Amino acid sequence: MFNKKIISFIALQLFLTTLVAQRSLPVYLDDAQPIEKRVEDALSRMTLEEKVKMVHAQSKFSSAGVPRLGIPENWMCDGPHGIRAEVFWDEWTQAGWTNDSCTAFPVLTCLAATWNPEMAALYGKSIGAEARYRNKNVLLGPGVNMYRTPLNGRNFEYMGEDPYLASRMVVPYVQGVQENGVAACVKHFALNNQETDRHLVNVNVDDRALYEIYLPAFKAAVIEGKAWAIMGSYNRYKGQWCSQNKYLLNDILRNEWKFDGVVISDWGAVNNTEHAIYHGLDMEFGTWGVDGYNQFYLANPFLTLLKSGQVQEAELDKKVRNILRLAFRTTMDRNRPFGSFASPEHSLAARQIAEEGIVLLKNDRQILPLNLEQTKKILIVGENAIKMMTIGGGSSSLKAKYEILPLEGIRNKIGSAASVDYARGYVGEKTAEQDGLTAADIIDHRSPEELIAEARKKAKEADMVIFIGGLNKHEGQDSEGSDRKELGLPYGQDNLIGELAKANKNLVVVILSGNAVAMPWANEVPAIVQTWYLGSEAGNALANVLTGEVNPSGKLPFTFPVKLTDVGAHAAGDFPGKDGEQVYRESIFVGYRWFDKNKIKPLFPFGHGLSYTQFTYGKPVISAKTLKANEILTVSIPVRNTGTKTGKEVVQLYIGDEKSSLPRPVKELKAFQKINLAPGEEKTVEFKISVNDLQFFDDRKHEWVAEPGKFTVYIGASSGDIRASVGFELK
Ligand code: GLC
Repeated sequence: MFNKKIISFIALQLFLTTLVAQRSLPVYLDDAQPIEKRVEDALSRMTLEEKVKMVHAQSKFSSAGVPRLGIPENWMCDGPHGIRAEVFWDEWTQAGWTNDSCTAFPVLTCLAATWNPEMAALYGKSIGAEARYRNKNVLLGPGVNMYRTPLNGRNFEYMGEDPYLASRMVVPYVQGVQENGVAACVKHFALNNQETDRHLVNVNVDDRALYEIYLPAFKAAVIEGKAWAIMGSYNRYKGQWCSQNKYLLNDILRNEWKFDGVVISDWGAVNNTEHAIYHGLDMEFGTWGVDGYNQFYLANPFLTLLKSGQVQEAELDKKVRNILRLAFRTTMDRNRPFGSFASPEHSLAARQIAEEGIVLLKNDRQILPLNLEQTKKILIVGENAIKMMTIGGGSSSLKAKYEILPLEGIRNKIGSAASVDYARGYVGEKTAEQDGLTAADIIDHRSPEELIAEARKKAKEADMVIFIGGLNKHEGQDSEGSDRKELGLPYGQDNLIGELAKANKNLVVVILSGNAVAMPWANEVPAIVQTWYLGSEAGNALANVLTGEVNPSGKLPFTFPVKLTDVGAHAAGDFPGKDGEQVYRESIFVGYRWFDKNKIKPLFPFGHGLSYTQFTYGKPVISAKTLKANEILTVSIPVRNTGTKTGKEVVQLYIGDEKSSLPRPVKELKAFQKINLAPGEEKTVEFKISVNDLQFFDDRKHEWVAEPGKFTVYIGASSGDIRASVGFELK
């Protein structure tokens, strides 16, 4: 009896103490309070100096918190494909830590090539967990700039030429990252479609192309993905630098899209205090040419203006509120998960994404997958079979925990079933060092003649030759800060491929790149595989597809032109612009939109990708022949696997407006579904169409409109392989 009384008395005391303690907890520290109340409470406790410290960097990749109030610093990290290794406090130089070797995921062009939003969710969740584990609260990615030209050095970091595909793929990625309590920072907002003169170029683009092509993926990331951060780009638009641009940041991002996250500048993209204050920027990073972070445009110059009363403190508070909201969504959310790093699960995710992103472009005589019963002597030729691709390319370069290279992956997979010999074939690599990281030394001083002679001789003796080449993320070869000068492959690869085709008819060409390349040998080569910079699991993923362990299901996220002048951006001949001006003369006709309009036959069309099995499409059925504004149409179509292997098919739906008051593309991607079918299995794929899918941006009224009239639904296995079409009318 006595004990019971004591225990209940103590319990009561404990309860009361907690209650009192809870009540005296400041609002901004109280998880139970709504975020906006916590923001206002924290703001009210901060001094002017503390607030100014928050809106600019304090180091290469961090900005100040409020130590006095226990509000943490913000730590940013590159990049879209993995968590960049630590650099010194105020330098780009590698800090040489021993605990920051990450999982290198495939590049985002590979993710786009999967056409599988589930892969995007898996990707975001995985890379977000790695950022979280490394205690970063902002991931500087994904990038969703549109692929306007195949020369753009950073296309490998982006998601292709179509705004709808990029929109569907970026949303799950952002959501996946942010479920880890890490902000996705979608970049580079906006119109950063070339690297040439990237700090200067002023993009001249009409509103239709801006709203229909270049903004949709950013808009989807913000409105559907609820992105917590956006990075302004280096270039200019309407004469203003995009990281301090009132049209993009105030008018569109804040006022039209109601964005409530933080706007971060690109590194060194701020050059004017007044524009940085009034044009929607919240955090200035990477400014150079000033002595110390206190001299950044939003540092002492801003503080001076505030103290003199020339600028109202309310302008500062707008920025700090966004930064505090970031804190409460990330570092100050006690319930967020703890992340994980370089784990087997992330390696598996990296491999699955890579396997689903590899595109089989051509496979005559079905020489793929490798038939190891008959093929006993395999020759691998090409530098990209042995070159590390997780490093290089600029800010997305990674110090990966490991990287399985193609030759290694193929040898591991084939084992003793066949001999796998190697010939260098060509040499591109002049230095083993890229972006401060050092690859295995593969320097080779032999002459091209010697290299080709060796490859030709060995090719004659092999049952099967697999050439593995492409680009290599060095300067001018798919890298930040530089564009390619031509569509063709470097280092004499075309000539070598021609020699190999003469030496052995069983030739597979595997191209590693983040951009389309010219393929003058395409008709002489029975099989062509387009693969990407696949990250840590590269060799395993490629080997699994080549051997048929995995049935390829990737589809091109951009058009492969026969020649450069077939591309809209180059037809007018003014790429990359002059005197810092670049006019997007092709307007909305980017990618397949341009090829359709001008009836140009591409080498391989947008959305193209073969399988080791075959699919037939049946007759489409449409739920009605007319559509009213508030109704939904369904279009369904049976798809059957008529081959012998289980495979995935991406069924694509395009819509064409037969008559419009403004020019429109012949057709535009408006839906897609990736389905898995066993041999003989048939599934009916159903698409829903609403009036929103029929709209175009009327820049005369500055609004989206759908005009009554006839529309055609095209359903196909690619933009160039339409299997069925059906018409309807919008009333
Ligand atoms: C770079 C890139 C940007 C990157 C940032 C930090 O210049 O443009 O994508 O996140 O600076 O490295």
